Amino acid sequence: MDLAVETDSSEAGGPAAAVVDVAAERARTVGVSYSHHLNSAGSALPTGAVVEAVVGHLREEEREGGYEASAARRADVEAIYASAARVIGAQASEIALFDSATTGLRVIVDALRFGPRTRFLVSRSTYVSHALHLLSISAETGAELVVVPPGDDGALDPDALEKLLASGDGREDVVCVAHIPTSSGLVEPVAEIGALTRRYGVRYLLDATQSVGHLAVDVDAIGCDVLVTTGRKFLRGPRGTGFGYVRRSLLETLTPVAPDVRGAVWSGDREWHLADTARRFETWESSVALRLGLGVALDELLERGIEVTAGHLVRTAAAIRAGLAGIGGVTVQDPAACGSGIVTFTVDGIGADDLNRRLAEAGVRVVSVPASHGQWDLGYRGVPSVVRASAHVYNDDADTAALLDAVATVAGRA
Ligand SMILES: Cc1ncc(COP(=O)(O)O)c(C=O)c1O
Repeated sequence: MDLAVETDSSEAGGPAAAVVDVAAERARTVGVSYSHHLNSAGSALPTGAVVEAVVGHLREEEREGGYEASAARRADVEAIYASAARVIGAQASEIALFDSATTGLRVIVDALRFGPRTRFLVSRSTYVSHALHLLSISAETGAELVVVPPGDDGALDPDALEKLLASGDGREDVVCVAHIPTSSGLVEPVAEIGALTRRYGVRYLLDATQSVGHLAVDVDAIGCDVLVTTGRKFLRGPRGTGFGYVRRSLLETLTPVAPDVRGAVWSGDREWHLADTARRFETWESSVALRLGLGVALDELLERGIEVTAGHLVRTAAAIRAGLAGIGGVTVQDPAACGSGIVTFTVDGIGADDLNRRLAEAGVRVVSVPASHGQWDLGYRGVPSVVRASAHVYNDDADTAALLDAVATVAGRA
C-alpha cells in the first residue's frame, strides 16, 4: 500500500504536492474508530502491523522460548538500527536502542562525565526528566546550569546563546535543547543552534522525543552530537521503546558508567572492552517484541516519507489553532515559533485537567500538561497547565471539528 501518492493540486498553478492518504492511514489504524485521538505527542495510535509484530513475537516466545525466538529474528532486529539511522540521517553503528528517550539520555549524559568546569546551556524547552537529571548533576558536581533566554517568538534566542558561548572563560560548555517541548507547539531553531555549537566547538545534545516522526530531523543538517527519541509518540511505535544517536567521533571517546554484557566483553580477570558501536550503551535484556514493533513503525514512516507526514501534521495543527482562536474564552498558548503539529490552549474559568476530562467525555482524546512537566517553559510563563492536542496522519477533518465543537461547548458553559 503506497500511503503518500495522493496529490493536492489546490494551489493554482503550483506543482501538485504529495499529501498523506488519510483514508488509507485510517484503514490500517483500528484506534480511529474508538475516539477522536489527538494525543500523538503523548502516545500515538499504532497501525495493525505494528501491533501484529509485537503480539506475533510474544507468541513465538510462548512456543519456542525467548532466546530461540530472538535468534530467529536476529536479521530483523539488526534492520531496526538501519531504519532508525535512515530516519535521522545517521549510520546504523551510531544508534543504540533503549526503552525510552529518558533512559537513552541518562545513559549517554552520564557517559559524558561532567565536573565543576562544565556549564550546561539549556533551552526553556527542556523536558522535566532531563532538567532534573542536569540539576542533580549540577548539585553534585558543581557544574553550572544556565537557562538560555528566549527571543520574542518564544524560541531559544541564538544571539543570547552566542553571547554565552563567547563568554566561556575556559568552561566546558554543553548545549542541551529539546527540538519540540512537551508543553507547546514550539519548534526550536535546532540547525542555527548547531551552527553555533560547531563554531565554538562545544557538545550539543538534542532531545528529539517530540520531533522524530513528526518533522524532518537530520543529525548532520542539525549538527547535534547526541540525539534521543522515543518510540510511542510520533513514530507510532509501541510503548517501552526508544533510541539514541551518538556521533561516531564522540562515541569513540565515551565509556558508559555501567558497562553491560550487551555492550562490553569481559575479556580477562580485570579487563573488558567495549563494543565499537553505540551499542556499548545498551543493556542485554530488552523486549524483542517491542523492538520488532518499533522496526515496523520506522519502516512505515520511511515508506510514507517525513515531508508528507510533517505537512499533514503542521496543517492540521494550524487549522486547530485557527479554530480555537475563534472560540470565546479560549486562549491558544503556543508561542509565535509554533510550526509543529502540537497545539496548546486553555479555557477561561476551567482547569486543564477538568477540560481534558470533559473533552474525553465528548470522545476527544487530548491531554493536560502541568507546569511541573516544564517549569522553564510553563512555569516561566506563569501558566499553571495547558491542554495539548497533537495530530497524526490518521487525523481527518472530522477529528478537528469534533475537538473544536467540544471545546466550544465546554467554553460556552464555563
Ligand atoms: C520533549 C520530551 N522529551 C523527553 C520525553 C521523555 O520521553 P520518554 O517518556 O520516552 O522517556 C518527553 C515525554 O513526553 C518529552 O515530551
